Amino acid sequence: MSSYEQLATDAVAQIEGAGDLDTLEALRPALLGKKAPVSLAKKDLGSLEPDQRKDAGQAINAARQRIESTFTARHADLASAARAVALEAERLDLTEFQAAPHAGHLHLITQSRDRLEDVFIGMGYTVAEGPEVETAWYNFEALNIPEWHPARGSFDTIFVNLGEPEEVMLRSHTSPVQIRTMETQEPPIYIIAPGRTFRTDTADATHLPAFNQLEGLVIDKGITMGDLAGTIDEFVRTFFGAEVKTRLRPSFFPFTEPSAEFDISLPDGSWLELGGCGMVHPNVLRNCGIDPEIWQGFAFGFGIDRLAVMRYRLDDIRELVNNDVRFLRQF
Ligand code: PHE
Repeated sequence: MSSYEQLATDAVAQIEGAGDLDTLEALRPALLGKKAPVSLAKKDLGSLEPDQRKDAGQAINAARQRIESTFTARHADLASAARAVALEAERLDLTEFQAAPHAGHLHLITQSRDRLEDVFIGMGYTVAEGPEVETAWYNFEALNIPEWHPARGSFDTIFVNLGEPEEVMLRSHTSPVQIRTMETQEPPIYIIAPGRTFRTDTADATHLPAFNQLEGLVIDKGITMGDLAGTIDEFVRTFFGAEVKTRLRPSFFPFTEPSAEFDISLPDGSWLELGGCGMVHPNVLRNCGIDPEIWQGFAFGFGIDRLAVMRYRLDDIRELVNNDVRFLRQF
């Protein structure tokens, strides 16, 4: 091995021995600078015999190139290793967030509606739907409430400025879904229809102008008031707890005969009104093309919001729509 090759081999060994960029950079002057052996050797060429200069020059250049390329490669290796170390050190430690960011949850009304649906689905019912904007036929007429009937007034209807006066309205109860269902389905029918309803009520502790009802409708053969009472009892006990009792009180609705209001018992022995119910009026069945001599049924309806107020003992029904997360978070 010529002394030049030896010189390069020594330099390469030093370069490869450098463990980090600083150490490597510190070697640069001694290996490639003006006073480096390869540089000095080039200067010394002049002292050689002319016929030896060419070979010697080429050998020196080869040695220098080997040192330079080794240096460059080592530099790249050490730099990428240093980068990997830095990245690892700067990596975000996401485990420092102990709890997951607050994810939110379903609104109390939605939770209540979902639970009620579960209870009734468990009893063999399916869920039906209808539009929130209704015509007088579905909201009143087909439900045995003709135009002249005083009961129309009791529904505090919000009319929509469309068509004939008082012809189109925001539905004031979910009972129109009874009609829509009977018009399109053959009995036997077992449905519930939860949904939004609207009345001109001013919001106060017990009223909301936009509220939610749940309608129930059963049409089958041989259905009696006893079936209605049993059904109400069953869903109330499943929703509120086995200790809660129900009772029916005679009442009036044009679309049921007989009609009743149903109450639930409170721990202090008093009763709270929950909703209306009754046996579907023969006129209503006829309006939907169902023969009342063959089919009978019952219907009921109550406010989901009110039910939530009772079950969670809320002070004010308006809490449900105030969007105060401190309130909503509790449920
Ligand atoms: N639709 C009635 C109301 O909103 C409740 C009801 C439903 C009564 C079904 C009887 C039968 O007041």
